[in-house]
Amino acid sequence: MISKSTIDQVYETARLEEVIGEFVTLKKSGANFKGLSPFSQERTPSFMVSPVKQIWKDFSSGKGGNVVAFLMEHEHFTYPEAIRFLARKYNIEIEETVQTEEAKLIQDAKESLFLVTQYAGSFFEKNLWETELGKSIALTYFKERGFTEETIKKFALGYSPDEYSALAKEAQKEGYKLEFLEKTGLVIVNENRQIDRFRGRIIFPIRSMSGRIQGFGGRILTTNTKTAKYLNSPESEIYYKSKVLYGIYESKQAIAKQDVCYLVEGYTDVIQMHQSGVLNVVSSSGTALTTDQIRMINRLTSNIVVLFDGDAAGLRASLRGIDLILEQGMNVKVCAFPEGDDPDSFAKSHTSEEITSFLEEESKDFIQFKASLLQGEAKSDPIRKAETVREIIESISKIPDMIKQEIYIQSCSEIMEVSEDTLFGALAQLKQKNNQKGATRLVPNENLSLVKKTADAALKVDHSYELEKQIISILLHYGGHEAEFNETIIRSDESGELIEETRTISAKVYEKVFLDLQQDEIELTNATFKNLFYKLIESYQLEEGELNLEKIMQTDDMILNEMVTDLVMKDEQYYLHDWEKKNIFVKNRDTQVGQLVSETILSLRRYLVDQKIKELQSQTQGVSENKEILENVLSYYQLKKVLSKKLNRVL
Ligand code: CTP
Ligand code: MN
Repeated sequence: MISKSTIDQVYETARLEEVIGEFVTLKKSGANFKGLSPFSQERTPSFMVSPVKQIWKDFSSGKGGNVVAFLMEHEHFTYPEAIRFLARKYNIEIEETVQTEEAKLIQDAKESLFLVTQYAGSFFEKNLWETELGKSIALTYFKERGFTEETIKKFALGYSPDEYSALAKEAQKEGYKLEFLEKTGLVIVNENRQIDRFRGRIIFPIRSMSGRIQGFGGRILTTNTKTAKYLNSPESEIYYKSKVLYGIYESKQAIAKQDVCYLVEGYTDVIQMHQSGVLNVVSSSGTALTTDQIRMINRLTSNIVVLFDGDAAGLRASLRGIDLILEQGMNVKVCAFPEGDDPDSFAKSHTSEEITSFLEEESKDFIQFKASLLQGEAKSDPIRKAETVREIIESISKIPDMIKQEIYIQSCSEIMEVSEDTLFGALAQLKQKNNQKGATRLVPNENLSLVKKTADAALKVDHSYELEKQIISILLHYGGHEAEFNETIIRSDESGELIEETRTISAKVYEKVFLDLQQDEIELTNATFKNLFYKLIESYQLEEGELNLEKIMQTDDMILNEMVTDLVMKDEQYYLHDWEKKNIFVKNRDTQVGQLVSETILSLRRYLVDQKIKELQSQTQGVSENKEILENVLSYYQLKKVLSKKLNRVL
């Protein structure tokens, strides 16, 4: 683990506007910077960076946060990856906290392997560009394939010299240990002989999501059929076949931005598509797609389009693998290329407009595609038809979303001319077989009531959500301000009537909010708000009424990060629309802080009293004689009246 002091140092050193400036063109705008949203396609800038507050907000997608949140969103780094990225950028040495001996060894070993693959990658590139043979054989081959120099550099393609141990010798001369060269599979050690695995091949480095080289693919240049056309790195601690996706590093941004990922077969397909301007493509490199690979894509988008070669004899077999994608809850489309074409050849022989429109027009919903394909095959053979229905239902049963399942049942019923009832029945049967717990039959009405219930719950939650949000917003904006409050004490007089007494006090907003809520024993119900609430109070106390916003956002809790940004940037949004220039006066909320605080807390209290009344009333149902509860309800009603009256006065 990265030590706390390193993390602190990273946060202290990193300048948000500098880091974001690497990815987005920013223009100064008042105290802030603005630019085009990197998360959506837009023409007018709605992406804002505040150097003072060290937070950013993208008004078109709603995303926002601090520097780490930006890297996590934009580069799809994990929290530690983002910290490491910043540490590298600002030359901060990473101090690791004491790990278990075992964990440390694993970490060190992995690091050593990555260092070796990184070195090998640049060795292969150098050989391609700077040696006579590299230029005359390999570079020429790439160019004949139609790759431009820019493309070759973008994918860091290389060439491994056709000598037994060129890399082995050179790497060891540079101080890389044979042990790690062997473990990454770059060098094969055989009775004291050291042989370069990829000798004489052109090289495709395979990079992780964060851009580190995990392994390589190598293709022969000659058409000699004795050796395999493609050779890949063997599995190692940094290269698991089932966990790599070729092109993920180069394509991740486009995949997220366009919210769809194209899946192709091989290296050359990815590269050629990129060169043609289709930048959201990855390949599982020869193997069938695995769950881990699907999850990687799912981090970026939930839409996937699988591209098939035109002459795919094993189309049916490949279709089976797609059920895995459905299981992950992703939306799957398929797109078959014309007879004799693969994405590589198609991309090479068509303009980028032609490719884009082909992909758009030919991408068919997977379930519907499968249904019509199988339907065509089964035609008038009733036995085949029954089999076909089962295969389709099998796929539909993999979809976790019940509503989606229902929609598919409807459309498949039309395509295959089988009644919906029959299909629902088959689905229920299959579910029962697959799932010992026994799935219930899917009846449309059940679904509806399910939807309705959640909608009701959402409504209920929303009211307290808004109030709680308002409290956090007040703390963020005005927590340290001194304000005047009309304080009301409610007590009962001798006759038992509730009466109120008012006086004016002056207090810090955060103290007032904290004490009021504590007095009523109110806990915020939303977990993020609750967490933030205590963080904010603590921060104000420690810094004596000053808000240390940066400190509060130094967490890997991205929901919290986004929430804070959202609230803090709310006022800044006005500047985006240049309201100032248009002389539109934005009311200064500061003057009415005391009022705002009182109003919010009163509203929250009234809301909670209301809830209490409802709760008690539901208890009395059927037990109308329960005097104690009725009395309780009455006194709450009275309290509510007082609160409402008070609230009216404030408003
Ligand atoms: N592929 C692979 N292993 C193989 C064959 C192919 O991994 N033994 C992958 C490669 O990633 C390649 C893709 O499948 O990019 C397409 O295969 P193919 O067309 O045979 O490779 P090319 O290099 O395009 O060869 P050719 O010039 O003969 O078409
Ligand atoms: Mn090919």
